[in-house]
Amino acid sequence: AKITFITKDKEEITVEGTSGSVMELAVKNNVKGIDGDCGGVCSCATCHVQVDAGHTDKTGVASEIESDMLELDDDANEFSRLCCQLQVTEAMDGVVLNVVK
Ligand code: FES
Repeated sequence: AKITFITKDKEEITVEGTSGSVMELAVKNNVKGIDGDCGGVCSCATCHVQVDAGHTDKTGVASEIESDMLELDDDANEFSRLCCQLQVTEAMDGVVLNVVK
């Protein structure tokens, strides 16, 4: 699936992946603002993204643990996700994610 990240400096980075989490894909491709400090166990929020409006059907909804974590982040909104909790699948093809930090 092709996934596009838009960084805080409005840089657009499209990367392609077939498996693993979106966070891992972003880190591997040096997407600025995605750090993945906790290694993908939903406990650091350094992989915070906001799904572009209109693309939320591709990403589904956050789990309870993920929502709890996002609640602690002042920048969170209804489009917020922790992208270590998003798996790279064909269903994600074309998704646009705004990097928050
Ligand atoms: Fe830590 Fe996603 S990498 S919450």
